[in-house]
Amino acid sequence: MLIATTNSKGGVGKSTIAVHLAAWLHGQGKHVIVIDCDTQQSCSRWLNRFNVEISTVQMGTPDEVFKYGLELVSQADMVIADGPAGLAELTRALLMICDLALVPCGPSALDLESSRITVEVIQQARRIRKGDLPRALFIPNRLQTNTLLANELMAVSSRLGIPVTQSALRLRQVYANAPGQGQVVWNIPNAPSEAVADMQILCQEIIAYAESQQ
Ligand SMILES: Nc1ncnc2c1ncn2[C@@H]1O[C@H](COP(=O)(O)OP(=O)(O)OP(=O)(O)O)[C@@H](O)[C@H]1O
Ligand SMILES: [Mg+2]
Repeated sequence: MLIATTNSKGGVGKSTIAVHLAAWLHGQGKHVIVIDCDTQQSCSRWLNRFNVEISTVQMGTPDEVFKYGLELVSQADMVIADGPAGLAELTRALLMICDLALVPCGPSALDLESSRITVEVIQQARRIRKGDLPRALFIPNRLQTNTLLANELMAVSSRLGIPVTQSALRLRQVYANAPGQGQVVWNIPNAPSEAVADMQILCQEIIAYAESQQ
């Protein structure tokens, strides 16, 4: 199975979620391969520092995605692709081969607008693939309790046309610190337990969804 994080907007949490999901699955004993489609290679650099046996493969063109993407799927229990910012052909290529597209989104009007466009591109991919693949999940990120923008995000997301995860991620310093430390939050000493639990519950929810109705 191939799960890709996609959103045309930069900085919404694609790499954060991709790396944590890969590490979570690895912790469950799964053989995971990560495809890094970001030109900045943030995800590969983070995972290389993390020092666990999760292979990362960089792909910078749609041709590479089409040529090697599905081959990797046959070599692993799960392939996680970290999508680039922008709706470049690379993102569209990922949407043509992935089983599940994760669409993280922060609480800002710009983030929401780009998520709407991303959902449209997901729907285009479904039409081309003549079915309901890729499935998709919208993930609210960087929420601050009881702020107007957070409430608006939760209200608007239910009308986007793709399911919204029950577990949302709050804005937390420890998530921002994790890449610099080359770690995932559950390995960071003194990480707030709620931050750890939220991320683990999100990973659990994503995989339960991915494995349902297969
Ligand atoms: N819930 C959160 N709380 C605090 N910081 C966060 C949260 N989610 C992500 N971040 C931080 O926000 C920044 C952007 O996140 P990330 O790199 O995961 O986004 P991205 O969508 O992959 O961006 P790009 O499109 O540029 O690759 C990073 O510094 C990350 O550590
Ligand atoms: Mg990224």
